[in-house]
Amino acid sequence: MYKIRTYNTIAVEGLDQFPRAQYEVGSEIAQPDGILLRSATLHDLTFPTGLKAIARAGAGVNNVPVERCTESGIVVFNSPGANANAVKELVMAGLLLSSRGIYAGLSYTAGLSEVTAEDMGPLLEAEKKHFKGQELMGKTLGVVGLGAIGSSVANMALGMGMKVIGYDPAISIDAAWRLPNQVQKAENLQQLLSRSDYISLHVPAIEATKNLINSTSLASIKDGAKLLNFARESIVNTADALVALNTGKLSAYVTDFPSPELINRPDVIALPHLGASTREAEDNCAIMGARQLIEFIEHGNIRNS
Ligand code: MLT
Repeated sequence: MYKIRTYNTIAVEGLDQFPRAQYEVGSEIAQPDGILLRSATLHDLTFPTGLKAIARAGAGVNNVPVERCTESGIVVFNSPGANANAVKELVMAGLLLSSRGIYAGLSYTAGLSEVTAEDMGPLLEAEKKHFKGQELMGKTLGVVGLGAIGSSVANMALGMGMKVIGYDPAISIDAAWRLPNQVQKAENLQQLLSRSDYISLHVPAIEATKNLINSTSLASIKDGAKLLNFARESIVNTADALVALNTGKLSAYVTDFPSPELINRPDVIALPHLGASTREAEDNCAIMGARQLIEFIEHGNIRNS
C-alpha cells in the first residue's frame, strides 16, 4: 500500500481504479510516498521524509518547486495531453468569440425583455449590422508552442478551414507532438507573428518564455491580429498588450489570465482560467498522475503518459 497525499482540488473518488494506493487530502498523510495535486502551490512545502515523486494533474508545473525537487531527488510529473482536448475546445470558443459578435449580441438581446414580440423582428434586423463578424476559414492561425495542446489546437484549426503556421521556442517542428503536415513551419517567432491573423500561445511558463509577447514582438504582428493566451499570464506583457489594443495593432485579446486593467474592455475576452476546467480533463489528469506515481513508486518506471 502506498500513501499519496492529494490536495482538495483532486476528486479522489475517480482514483479507485488504483486500489494499492491510499489517498488522503493535504497534510493528513504526514509521510506520503507521492503527492498528487492540481493547482495548489507547493513552493513553500518542506518535503516530507520519504517523498519520492510529485504528479501535477495538468500541463503546467509552475506551482511545483521543480528545481528544489531535482536537488532532493524527487521526480516531478505533469500530465501531457490529458487536458489538451479541453483547452483546444476553449481555444475554439476564443477564436469564435473574438471573431463574431456573439458576446456583444448576447448583451444586446439581454436588454430586450421589454420589447414586444411584434417589434422584436424589425428591431433585430435593423440592429444586427452592429454585430457583424469575420469568418475563420482561410485566416491564418499562428500556434506558438507545439506540445500536446498546441498540436491539438493546430489540428482543430485545420479542421475549421484555417491555415496554420507553427513555431516552438524549445523544440523543432519535426519533433512536435502529432503535428499534421499541413502546418507551415515558421523559422522564428517574428515570422509567425508577421503572418498570423490569430496567434494562440501554448508554451510553458518558464524563464525563457517570460514576456515572450512584449512591445518588441508585438511590433511584428499584422495590424488587427487577435491574440489568445490559454498558456500562462507571464508569457504576455499585459502593459504592452494594452498599448497594442489601444493603438489597434491588436484587435482582440482573449486571455484565461485576466488582470484588473483588462476587465470591461470590449476588445478583451477575459476568462477565469477555464482552459482545462472540464470534468473529463480533470479525471484524465488525475488518473494519469496517479498512474505515474504508482508506477514510479512501485517499479521505478518514469512514464509521461
Ligand atoms: C494546465 O496547466 O494544465 C492548465 O493550465 C490547467 C490547470 O492549471 O490545471
